[in-house]
Amino acid sequence: MKVKGFFEDIKGPSNILEIRKEKIKNASPKPVTKDPINELAKKIHPDKVYLTIDSVEQTTATSRTYRFVKSNKYGEDAPEIPIFQAGQYISFKFQIGESWVTRPYSISSAPYQVLENRSKKPFVEVSIRKKDGGFVTEYIWENWKPGTEVMASMAHGQFYYEPLRDADTIVALAGGSGITPFHSMAREICNGKLEAKLILIYGSNFKKEFMFYKEFIDFEKNHPDKIKFVPVLSGEEKGWDGETGFITKDIIKKYTDINNSTFFICGPQVMYKFVEKELNNLKIPRKRIRREVFGEMPDIYSMDDFPNSAKNKKYSIKVHIGKNIVDIEASSSESVLVALERNGIKNDSHCRSGECGFCRSQLLKGEIYVSPENDGRREADKIYGYFHPCSSYPISSLEIRISLA
Ligand code: FES
Repeated sequence: MKVKGFFEDIKGPSNILEIRKEKIKNASPKPVTKDPINELAKKIHPDKVYLTIDSVEQTTATSRTYRFVKSNKYGEDAPEIPIFQAGQYISFKFQIGESWVTRPYSISSAPYQVLENRSKKPFVEVSIRKKDGGFVTEYIWENWKPGTEVMASMAHGQFYYEPLRDADTIVALAGGSGITPFHSMAREICNGKLEAKLILIYGSNFKKEFMFYKEFIDFEKNHPDKIKFVPVLSGEEKGWDGETGFITKDIIKKYTDINNSTFFICGPQVMYKFVEKELNNLKIPRKRIRREVFGEMPDIYSMDDFPNSAKNKKYSIKVHIGKNIVDIEASSSESVLVALERNGIKNDSHCRSGECGFCRSQLLKGEIYVSPENDGRREADKIYGYFHPCSSYPISSLEIRISLA
């Protein structure tokens, strides 16, 4: 910024006023029906985008990477592929039978792959691991092929590197498909678009289950000053001479400067519990630990404070939707959001873990359980009876009001 001196500077705004008056005087009398700035903002940061699957790559026996491009079904003016930060997720919305479901998936491609391809073919990728018996991933496996049209949200989430808040080194502690946001960060770092160092400590049962194994070996080989890759195998494997067991405090200490790093955790529910305990043992302050929060808790009964009296119970839920009332039944093991979806009731949602607030609804009667880790409600919401169905489990019969989706 050029500072010209106090009086010169304060003349700036008054000049603007004069210029504006002049423009208004000479403006066309025709009413302005379009706001180009808002339209551009909506195009770059749309609420929803229509995507087409461009390619599908089998990355391990149980995981695939889906590449999406902008659908050409909705014309030139349709929203563009969303701009995002490495580490964020997009949420897909689709119908399975009678149910409308949403699923958030971390973006595994890098932001520069959207920005630098703007004039060519920008794309975004997500990498999904198939869960045995997983209702949604099995559907995706069967139905998502090149050419499939999918609706998605803009990018969401707070799980990204912020230089003003985070240390220069990101220590990524990942398990399973929790590696995907770090793949995005690593690509961005190796491309010189993100100024940080990344140490990835990645746990898996077997080597064949490692996602992006070869990519991370290459990232490290080509950028040894920026990327360090530490795979950790928990299963026994012949010829493996790397780290074994779980991601313990000893392994973390061995490869990182614990006092000058920010720790990012992403992986299955059991891993969070274990790794957070290890970080606690290392006395890492809470402000230097960041955890990805998307997805429901797969086993809510494993929470220590879940009431025993509510386990294995079914409850009725009276759902007010506008002027209609629908009665449904829900198990205490499923979130209220899942119960709504199972019954074909649409409710807005993105993160499915209590963070984004998109599913915010009103609890008129009854009791819910919300795990402390996924309780993203504001204090005022708790007082005035608002809740997040995605992270709330019925522990009595309920009466709720949801918004029309
Ligand atoms: S979907 Fe994000 S808070 Fe419920």
